Amino acid sequence: MLDNPEDGSWQSGSMSAQELVLRQRTEILHALCSSRSSEILERVLDMLLARGTLVWEDYQNIQISGTALGTSARQLLDLVYTKGVEACGFLLAVLNHVLSEAQKAGLSFGAYSSDPELTEAPCGASATQTLLTERPGLVSKLRGCIDGALHVLVESGSFTSTDCDEVQLPIFTPSQQARHLLDHVRSKGEAAARVLLQYILQNQEHASHLNQETWTPTEDCFKYKKKLSSSVAVQSCFLSTYGGTSNMTLDDIYTESQLELAHDCADVLGSLSLEDLVGIVGTLNEDADTVLVSGEAGCGKSTLLQRLHLLWAQGAALQDFFLLFPFSCRRLNSEHRELSVQELLFHHCCWPDREQDQIFQFILDHPHLILFTFDGLDELKQNFSDEHRHCCPTQRAPVPILLFNLLQGSLMKGVRKVVTSRPEAVGPALKKYLRKEVHLKGFSPSGIDCFVRKHHSDPAVAARVLESLQTNTALLGLCHTPVLCWIVSQCHKELLGCGEGSPQTITDVYLMILQHFFQHQNPQKTLRIGWMQEHLNTALHLGLLAFKGIGNSCYIFSDTDLQTCGVTEEDICMGFLIHSKDISSNSCKRLEFLHVTMQCFFAALYIVLNSAMDRSAIAKLFGLQGMSQTGMSSTCFMACLPSTVQPELALEGEAIAVETANLQITATFVSGLLSQRYRGLLLHCCSSSTIDRKIRQVARCLSKRMQKHFKSISQPVEGEKKSMHAMPAFVWLIKCIYEMQESRLAQDIMSKLDVQHLKLTYCNIGPVECTALAYVLQHLKSPVGLQLDYNSVGDVGVEQLLPCMHVCNSLYLRNNNISDEGICKLIAKVIHCDNFQKIALFNNKLTDACTQHFSRLLKTKQNFLALRLGNNNITAEGAKQLAEGLQCNQSLQYLGLWGNKIGDTGAEALARALMGNKSLLWLSLVENGVGNAGACALADIVKNSTTLEELCLTKNYITRTGVECLIQALKHNTHVKSVWLKSNELSVEEVEEMTQRESRLIF
Ligand SMILES: Nc1ncnc2c1ncn2[C@@H]1O[C@H](COP(=O)(O)OP(=O)(O)O)[C@@H](O)[C@H]1O
Ligand SMILES: [Mg+2]
Repeated sequence: MLDNPEDGSWQSGSMSAQELVLRQRTEILHALCSSRSSEILERVLDMLLARGTLVWEDYQNIQISGTALGTSARQLLDLVYTKGVEACGFLLAVLNHVLSEAQKAGLSFGAYSSDPELTEAPCGASATQTLLTERPGLVSKLRGCIDGALHVLVESGSFTSTDCDEVQLPIFTPSQQARHLLDHVRSKGEAAARVLLQYILQNQEHASHLNQETWTPTEDCFKYKKKLSSSVAVQSCFLSTYGGTSNMTLDDIYTESQLELAHDCADVLGSLSLEDLVGIVGTLNEDADTVLVSGEAGCGKSTLLQRLHLLWAQGAALQDFFLLFPFSCRRLNSEHRELSVQELLFHHCCWPDREQDQIFQFILDHPHLILFTFDGLDELKQNFSDEHRHCCPTQRAPVPILLFNLLQGSLMKGVRKVVTSRPEAVGPALKKYLRKEVHLKGFSPSGIDCFVRKHHSDPAVAARVLESLQTNTALLGLCHTPVLCWIVSQCHKELLGCGEGSPQTITDVYLMILQHFFQHQNPQKTLRIGWMQEHLNTALHLGLLAFKGIGNSCYIFSDTDLQTCGVTEEDICMGFLIHSKDISSNSCKRLEFLHVTMQCFFAALYIVLNSAMDRSAIAKLFGLQGMSQTGMSSTCFMACLPSTVQPELALEGEAIAVETANLQITATFVSGLLSQRYRGLLLHCCSSSTIDRKIRQVARCLSKRMQKHFKSISQPVEGEKKSMHAMPAFVWLIKCIYEMQESRLAQDIMSKLDVQHLKLTYCNIGPVECTALAYVLQHLKSPVGLQLDYNSVGDVGVEQLLPCMHVCNSLYLRNNNISDEGICKLIAKVIHCDNFQKIALFNNKLTDACTQHFSRLLKTKQNFLALRLGNNNITAEGAKQLAEGLQCNQSLQYLGLWGNKIGDTGAEALARALMGNKSLLWLSLVENGVGNAGACALADIVKNSTTLEELCLTKNYITRTGVECLIQALKHNTHVKSVWLKSNELSVEEVEEMTQRESRLIF
């Protein structure tokens, strides 16, 4: 008996698929036709076709349109039945998948109730084959974008407008249109199929970000999200620098810092927002998932990520991401097990209390809803490499391999990843996998202001701190780095109490916080001159710990590490060490320094204070012994330790890049601590002979390393200037010399530099570096051209450069974020510098407010040669001001105003001013909105000038009338070599005719 007396459905028992189809024929037909739309039948057909159960000819025989639905459905059942058991089994599986619960009522699917397995397109399948095998998916993807698909097909020449009309017949539903489109494309052949697949792929990527309503997380996923976000919130609520001593939350203190795209991007001006990090702005490579935030130690990378995490956890930003997984590379270092991605997420971020597999499947299925962040790639004990491929999220691998494959996108493709790193650790291997790169540049001047005001609840105190920063611009420069701004704010009492001796160098600032923390432990005791000696033991214990860590890329310390270095509970209480936070709760208690720069400072203290330090340590630190020219190997550096405390070296082979950077910071502090100014302080702790020996040694090292640089300068080609391109370590050495504050040393070193041009483009020079540069360069024997293009000098940096302007004959500051304020101060100084003759300020933030200063410069300095102000914001008003200066100047040879907005009025003013001029050789007014009036005014100069050789008027609005004026003028002048007029308002014929009349016109 097959009848089921209870519910009337068929008992499937051991019935074959063929029998099931036959017996249930009526019911199946009913289900297929019940909705009166052919959609169900068509979806079934799509799947049968994709699987190959039906071939193309079968499909065409069952063509739906024009035939009654029931007839088509019957045809299908007949056909499938004749194809045998397997075909029927697949049909049942498809029906089970396609029909709704109501439509399925009364039907029995026997053993064929699992989801139909479609065969995947074989490797190397043709595009037309793929159209068949992927048909069900393609139909649903195409539904919403038929127009776009037709457009690209027409553009590529695969489709005619008749083809389009056939596909778009109004009687078709979108799905039917999609099917007709696929069928049409198939008939056109391989090329058309490829065009369509490419289009769908691109469109899908785009849509996957927008079209998120299609995902439906389960209850368990929501619970997991809740757990994850609450632990992220707890974790990111406080900054470690505020954790112990105040109640200030991240929300209270977070101050926007400057975030800029690493590459030029026309649509983006100025700073990016946090949301822009993961947004489309500035995307270089659409296929890549990884966004890199790079910046120097202390510029706020970890804080930025922390902010991002908190905003997400609070639901205040990045809500496109359902789950966010934060990782710290520093902490991942201590994971020595091999893990799968699933384990990495769940063990290191948040453990799902139930349904782990389901939640992980959700993550795999919805990569675009997931965000991973990795803080401090530089601190990972392995350099990034793409040698080991690992693609399977459930297979285990060592953590660095997982991490590298995640960043490359070979693992968890489509999951967005944000990674931070110091620039040293970012090589070309990583760069090719980046979606975009942004530079974090610390606080802007207004950011410093804002931070200080947030830090001090008493506005009067904030005002006093800011005032004292304004009077000490070297310190103000340092405050662009947030970690230093934090120290300065933290130590406001010391700062405001120190009067004349206000800190100038980074070492000064770190000594101030050292003193501050020591004092903090014993507030009733006033610190005496010998304060360092009182705390010598603490300094040595922590110093040793730091020193060993720096040489060993170790930043988190276990109890054993502390014991080996003699660190006591009392030392820990001083506050320099904090508990290492870990998002997963299963970590044991371990400590780390408040900040990596603090660790470098303690390492430096150890080198300076420890009398048993090997004599070669300093030479090694400065890279003068036993290492290559560029890097320093920690291995030989560690050998400087007394053998009892030599750690086991974790590193094998190549030292990681950031290690060198940390050693350089340490060396900078060593130079600072061994400044004569601190001799008195150190004398309480070490013998004078030891101190003097170390001072001499550092001075010698700096001098030697610099000379190595100088020797590498190649002889100039004849007729060219002798020029030095700064090598990577040059700026660091300059900073060390500055930290020592010995002008004799700077003088000695600079007396050996013999160049005419110093090139420091793209060297990451900010205000701090400017202070050091000026301190050292002011001792140059003869004037140089100083090229600082593409850095972050800014107005504060410009002010810092003033002390060396007298040895500068040209100053190049293209692309440096300089505004009128900086220019005002610069000109006030250089107007009195005889040597100063050229300045280039292309692409800054200059407006008409600075032109009066240039005007004064031109009036006053009758040996000034070149003024280049391209790509700023100068209008006709500014041009008028410049004209005033030009009128009284008889030296200027080059005037560049490309890409401003001076218009006709501005051009006329300049032309009038230049009437009697006898020096100008070159004038550029490219892209300035100049029309015929301007051109005719300029023609007057062309007519009369005895010096002008080149006039550039490309990209303006000049028509035939203006050019006629220029042609007439040129008749009177043999001196002018060319007048550039490309991209003006002239027809091809006009251009041809006028070129023939005057060959010096260039169109
Ligand atoms: N945007 C910011 N707002 C407020 N304080 C900041 C900011 N960025 C950094 N800081 C301060 O500087 C310290 C160091 O910043 P951090 O993010 O650790 O730098 P990095 O990771 O680049 O070395 C922080 O602990 C905090 O006190
Ligand atoms: Mg950090």
